[in-house]
Amino acid sequence: PLKKLKDGLLSTTSSEDSRELANFSINEKGSTVSITVVGASGDLAKKKIFPALFALYYEDCLPKHFTVFGYARSKMTDVELRDMVSRTLTCRIDKRENCSEKMDQFLKRCFYHSGQYDSEENFKELAKKMKEQEFEDVPLLMQDGRISNRLFYLSVPPNIFIDVVKCASTSASSANGWTRVIVEKPFGRDFESSAALTRSLKEYLVEDQIFRIDHYLGKELVENLSVLRFSNLIFEPLWSRQYIRNVQFIFSEDFGTEGRGGYFDNYGIIRDIMQNHLLQMLALFAMETPVTLEAEDIRNEKVKVLRSMKPLQLENMVIGQYKGHTKGGVTYPAYTDDKTVPKGSLTPTFAATALFINNARWDGVPFLMKAGKALHTKRAEIRVQFRHVPGNLYNRSFGTDLDRATNELVIRVQPDEAIYLKINNKVPGLGMRLDRSNLNLHYAARYKNEIPDAYERLLLDAIEGERRLFIRSDELDAAWSLFTPLLKEIEEKKIIPEYYPYGSRGPVGAHYLAARYNVRWG
Ligand code: NDP
Ligand code: BG6
Repeated sequence: PLKKLKDGLLSTTSSEDSRELANFSINEKGSTVSITVVGASGDLAKKKIFPALFALYYEDCLPKHFTVFGYARSKMTDVELRDMVSRTLTCRIDKRENCSEKMDQFLKRCFYHSGQYDSEENFKELAKKMKEQEFEDVPLLMQDGRISNRLFYLSVPPNIFIDVVKCASTSASSANGWTRVIVEKPFGRDFESSAALTRSLKEYLVEDQIFRIDHYLGKELVENLSVLRFSNLIFEPLWSRQYIRNVQFIFSEDFGTEGRGGYFDNYGIIRDIMQNHLLQMLALFAMETPVTLEAEDIRNEKVKVLRSMKPLQLENMVIGQYKGHTKGGVTYPAYTDDKTVPKGSLTPTFAATALFINNARWDGVPFLMKAGKALHTKRAEIRVQFRHVPGNLYNRSFGTDLDRATNELVIRVQPDEAIYLKINNKVPGLGMRLDRSNLNLHYAARYKNEIPDAYERLLLDAIEGERRLFIRSDELDAAWSLFTPLLKEIEEKKIIPEYYPYGSRGPVGAHYLAARYNVRWG
């Protein structure tokens, strides 16, 4: 009967149909959400966005009436999109579980539209398809009552952002609900280009519609930073220059820029990792207690930290680039061996720097950052090294290495998530000898559930209108203001990076930099 009603045969409704219509109005009117992945044929969409959407569906986190659209220039049918997407979906809780039924249900809600990024006509066609799905189960007479919300995820290169936003906002935005846009990085390559991008976006959107993503904010242990600090009495009183000697933010990957050299060469590691992922973690780490956990209160505190940072100095920056080498019969390529990287490129694939926050809490405490590709290990960590115990009774005669004997709190963001505190401890036995041991919260041992991918949390937040984990425009301005002068200086002076072998620990200069501040990298 509903199908009959939808087809316009309402005038011939039986009393049974009327009852159904009445029930419909009570239970089904609600709202819909259409999620359009722009750039659906690309790497990020396949690797992260569609799997995250499926995970949300699997966990019953998506609204009841949702539809996913892929949009890109590549020609594809709905069936081909579903086939492409299905290859990257996995069961959420336990990979051994059989969730093929859920996958089929999810895939049935995925559609594809091929179009140009600057064609309003093509976006109108997309909007028409959206509308068909949004009202698929709603009788004609009831359609006015249903709110259709629309989320666009810009998973395309940044030079296309504005075209898409223009077309989507003029031809495919929601008539009666919200329209939101998730913007991927890179958001500009310096202060001016980032501000220009924000200005252009704001010709079509208001700030509240723009969700600038930094996927590190969606990582479990980064979200946990505030919980750790503000809900445990033992940490917050120590969280200052009085007790903390230095803080380190470390990002390292054990693979190079393979496949993304073209993009990377225009940005380099400082823009790719430091200015966003590491700086965001620093801001969350160092901010004052927000008034509440509301997005604006947290973002206000983060902006204050960013604006309190001392200008970065070239002498406090070490840059490096990986070179090829052969080990155990295997040849590892140099960064410039990538065909998409210009010969002789000076783009850094490694950088280390020392930053300082000019406020009462952190004055004089070095915040060290290190980020690199093609290093010996893959990890992302925050390491907090505490001061020495004043008048320590347990000196060298107890086997203590005084240089290393300070407490250290390590927040291992990935892989193998953990929080551990290094303490000095008596080695059991009749003698009195100390060693360093860990109080260890190892996530895999403590929590059985798989940790959600960052993109799941961020997509869900965008759907729910939660902005806490997205970057506000003034935060972005402050982040670029900090890094832009130094980036310009490095590029204008054509600073030659220190070359380090693929798979090594990176340039030795990073150790000299740390030593200047009495720090050893953890
Ligand atoms: P891709 O290079 O794979 O591009 C996505 C899609 O955009 C392509 O499938 C293509 O679709 C279209 N496209 C690519 N180049 C152009 C061009 N020059 N002109 C017009 N359309 C183009 O990007 P990714 O999927 O890797 O990344 C998407 C966005 O996410 C980018 O902004 C990237 O910086 C960011 N990002 C990516 C990460 C990753 O791991 N891949 C990580 C973090 C951020 P079609 O030809 O079908 O139109
Ligand atoms: C992206 C960078 O933002 O983050 C990539 O552009 C990097 O260069 C990636 O590889 C790392 O993300 P993750 O979540 O794998 O640590």
